[in-house]
Amino acid sequence: MVKVFSGIRPSGKLHLGNYLGAIKNWIELQNSAQQSIFAVVDYHGITTPYDPKTYQQQIMDVVLDYLAAGIDPDPSADGPLLIRQSKVPQHTELAWLFNTITSIGWLDRLPTYKEQLEKTGVNNMALLDYPVLMAADILIYKSNLVPVGEDQLPHIDLTNEIAKRFNSLFGETLPVVKPHLAEGFRIMSLQDPTKKMSKTGDEGIALSDDPDTIRTKIKKAVTDSGKEVRYDEKEKPAISNLLTIYHLLSGKEIKTLEKKYDGQSYVEFKNDLAEVVVNFLKPFQEKRKKFEDNPDRVMEILTKSEEKARVLASSTLKEIKERMGLE
Ligand code: AMP
Ligand code: TRP
Repeated sequence: MVKVFSGIRPSGKLHLGNYLGAIKNWIELQNSAQQSIFAVVDYHGITTPYDPKTYQQQIMDVVLDYLAAGIDPDPSADGPLLIRQSKVPQHTELAWLFNTITSIGWLDRLPTYKEQLEKTGVNNMALLDYPVLMAADILIYKSNLVPVGEDQLPHIDLTNEIAKRFNSLFGETLPVVKPHLAEGFRIMSLQDPTKKMSKTGDEGIALSDDPDTIRTKIKKAVTDSGKEVRYDEKEKPAISNLLTIYHLLSGKEIKTLEKKYDGQSYVEFKNDLAEVVVNFLKPFQEKRKKFEDNPDRVMEILTKSEEKARVLASSTLKEIKERMGLE
């Protein structure tokens, strides 16, 4: 039985990297899996500096982005669920239990922890513990397939370490978890193709950017030396990244695109790419607006999904507590 779980922190507007690296996969999986749960991981989002005044809005922005991208929750049937992590407190309760079997040495060598530490200079317990909560998010539903971007692979490994240790200490309970990577698993910044496209700075294209902003951003995107539009990650990282985006959004093969732009300049290529992105995002933005205008419907989807998630999560938690001698 395929059980899917994934989540994104509400730490800024979702961008093309989030969509192509993660959400696109969710949409494909949500219909074929027996269970799929998608979360806005608001407890993860507060491990780095944030503004409490705008946090609720940020959470709702991500919810709207999910719905507009095609997550299609159906909590009354056995369909996909869309939840806010903090509304299902069983996640954090399980994280505490997992803390008792997680070595600090597994956590303080993780690249994501070191990166955040360097970036924010804030070293709190939650930042170190972040992947344990992520393991709990996944395992509280006994999920076995997690669509994420490449940067999350060490966290999936850790999830499996925790599950393995739990099973060997307390008896076979938790499944093996597999990551599910998309083809566009690493979309790079438009300003620096050696860095990932991210939610901070303006080097990314937000799913909610208007057409003129998109055109300006693509016009300003850095290119490589030389003139040809050719895929070559080493020699032409910037053009290769733009070709990947073009390919993934248009469905046209990279080879076909190379031929199409043979003898043409970067400028022509970028102009066309801008229109591809604008056209791709148009229906997304229209759908988003519809949900935005109907907050009651959105809240109903969330509360019903969360109610159902709490039932599923309670059942795993009960089993785990029994195994651990807590019940
Ligand atoms: P984050 O924006 O870091 O909270 O990431 C949310 C999800 O999007 C995770 O599954 C990431 O792996 C994925 N993701 C974030 N940035 C990118 C990117 N530039 N390219 C591909 N996937 C990404
Ligand atoms: N750590 C993930 C990120 O930074 C977000 C996340 C939290 C997640 N819990 C999860 C992803 C569970 C997949 C499954 O992007």
